[in-house]
Amino acid sequence: MTENRIKEIVAKYLPLENLKSLQISDNRIIAEFEQISENKQISEKLKQELATLFPEKKVNLLFTQKISSNIGIKETEKWKIGGVKHIIGVASGKGGVGKSTTAVNLALALSDKGLKVALVDADIYGPSVPTMLGYEGMPMMSADGVHFSAFNNYGVESVSIGSLIDRDTPIIWRGVKACGAIEQLVTQTNWGEIDVMVIDMPPGTGDIQITLSQKINFSGMVIVSTPQDIALIDAIKGINMFKKTGIEILGIVENMSYFICPHCGEKTNIFGHNGAKETAEKMGETFLGGIPLNMEIRETSDSGTPIVAANPDGEQAASYEKIAEKIMLKLGV
Ligand SMILES: Nc1ncnc2c1ncn2[C@@H]1O[C@H](COP(=O)(O)OP(=O)(O)OP(=O)(O)O)[C@@H](O)[C@H]1O
Ligand SMILES: [Mg+2]
Repeated sequence: MTENRIKEIVAKYLPLENLKSLQISDNRIIAEFEQISENKQISEKLKQELATLFPEKKVNLLFTQKISSNIGIKETEKWKIGGVKHIIGVASGKGGVGKSTTAVNLALALSDKGLKVALVDADIYGPSVPTMLGYEGMPMMSADGVHFSAFNNYGVESVSIGSLIDRDTPIIWRGVKACGAIEQLVTQTNWGEIDVMVIDMPPGTGDIQITLSQKINFSGMVIVSTPQDIALIDAIKGINMFKKTGIEILGIVENMSYFICPHCGEKTNIFGHNGAKETAEKMGETFLGGIPLNMEIRETSDSGTPIVAANPDGEQAASYEKIAEKIMLKLGV
């Protein structure tokens, strides 16, 4: 069997007890090792041997550090976010995979289903929700002079970290300020009654993401990935990190899943296809659905009227609606 053969080869180079997961499909092998640092010389040799034996498969080796199992914090140390029933995060291991586009359209799709929805832009590295929802500037103060009033565009209540941290602040300083600023934003906004709050998370699996996972009472996390290996490997890292902090993975969305030529209607898998679906299945997670690579999706979100608002009856909006329905089922709302 292929799996046993791969394990035999792995065992020649690395202890098998560190092999945390092994994904084998027609065109790829992803082996994930835990609690072991990568030794480039060894991993290159292992990769080469596997590649020689399975020339039709791309081989990826992934080394993840163990996160302390003591990572949970007390309920009392979590941020108090009043009036919000469920909080879901939209995260990705890698930047630029369409996390914000997914978060914004998902929020609009949930709102279309009749839910009261909030969208928080917590991506300190590239806050883009204001552009996508078409608002700018600082949120107004509420009448009490203490709380912020969220912006409300297309029926969704929204605030962005971009309002508190200006574009010229160096990344390293943003990191230091980040969690405090995000806490201020989510705990000091007058939300009213909200069924689902969607949080556009910063990409990656660093300290800020871990702190947010600990401090926010998430009902679950949606992971966005493109189908190609490089993004999937980071998605796997993200999934493992969130699981270790005790957060349920609601599922994986494959963004830029395929391209349909607007002229001839031919379907092309620019970044490969089904990679995220296969990864979800192998990790025992839910595949929430695929979103096509589509010009209208880009144009509408960059111009402040996301596709679900611009063309709610179209095919692209339908792919976000389907994902929203699956999430609602999981949340029981
Ligand atoms: N399905 C899609 N079809 C076409 N364009 C898309 C799609 N998804 C995202 N884009 C475009 O790709 C670019 C990156 O998307 P987006 O900003 O949502 O990614 P991100 O993961 O949030 O990135 P960052 O890490 O920079 O925050 C944007 O210009 C967006 O309009
Ligand atoms: Mg973004």
